[in-house]
Amino acid sequence: MIPVATPIIDEEEIQEVIKVLKSGFIAQGPRVAEFEEKFAAYVGTEHAVATSSGTTALHLALLAAGVGKGDEVITTPFSFAATANAALYVGATPVFADIDPLTYNIDPERIEELITPSTRAIIPVHLYGQPADMDPIMDLAADHDILVIEDAAQAHGAEYHGRKVGSMGDAACFSFYPTKNITTGEGGIITTDDDEIAEMARILRAHGETERYRHTYLGYNFRMTDISAAIGIAQLGKLEEFNSRRIENAAYLTSQLGDLEGVSTPHIAAGVRHVFHQYTLRVPGSRDELMGFLNERGVGTGIHYPRPIYRQELYQRLGFDARCPVSEAAAAEVLSIPVHPALTGEELERVAGTVREFFE
Ligand SMILES: Cc1ncc(COP(=O)(O)O)c(C=O)c1O
Repeated sequence: MIPVATPIIDEEEIQEVIKVLKSGFIAQGPRVAEFEEKFAAYVGTEHAVATSSGTTALHLALLAAGVGKGDEVITTPFSFAATANAALYVGATPVFADIDPLTYNIDPERIEELITPSTRAIIPVHLYGQPADMDPIMDLAADHDILVIEDAAQAHGAEYHGRKVGSMGDAACFSFYPTKNITTGEGGIITTDDDEIAEMARILRAHGETERYRHTYLGYNFRMTDISAAIGIAQLGKLEEFNSRRIENAAYLTSQLGDLEGVSTPHIAAGVRHVFHQYTLRVPGSRDELMGFLNERGVGTGIHYPRPIYRQELYQRLGFDARCPVSEAAAAEVLSIPVHPALTGEELERVAGTVREFFE
């Protein structure tokens, strides 16, 4: 089976982990500090605060930015559940704005009508590695004095009009889960230019301590380990190469599949660098048949995502009754196929050839 995602770990990561294991510092230590410095420099922000996962990065960013009970957080329903769950963790209410039908990212025109006096933050997601349309989002946020927290979990190295994702909002969150463009095993990071958000995130990441055993706030243990950071440093050095391969693989798939009837290949918005965390086809009417056909022939697939977040049982039970028809339609028709940088040329040909075979 050609997997839809797989991490690339080689001798460099293994040797770096061995060095950490032998160093005596295996929890948060000097390698985490080094990873934060390098990641901030890569994204172009003043600060980076490493965490135990992308989910805890989102949770911590909202806490550090002061989002809490009674606040509303506008986000997309067409994402991994963690995006909206982060609002629930801090006692805020997620409010779902529908997406653009071509990019699958939050539609800025749907955001404005949802802004109320309680709106504290917008969380756009750079889905599949394609930046959300940030200029109108940042304009709306400035007009209404609202924070923007980018969910860049899927978009390390993506760019919007020449700016890296993670450098545009008040803060941004990345994930280093093994399926992501780079990994640390489990892990996440917050990037920000805001000194106060960075400082609060560091304090709340480690039990709310402002000095040793002085607990000033209700904090958490959301720390990254030096073992993970050592993997992350090695991976960060390869991110550009990994992304270039993703972009080349995506271009190849589109060149092979772009002319087929009954399926749409990914749309790349003007002025962006899409880093193809996922290569997601749109297959009206026959998504599940195509998925079965590919899987039977050894081509892995993924559905990102099978239902809008407000249709999840948890959200239904909590009484969410959003209506986002563009997201609903996408959830029924999207199918991700392998695009990751570990694919050989032969595997890539097999992926494209098997999709063609289905439609022909
Ligand atoms: C859009 C999005 N947000 C948040 C997360 C959560 O990241 P993690 O799995 O590292 O907690 C993920 C990844 O799984 C994601 O894809």
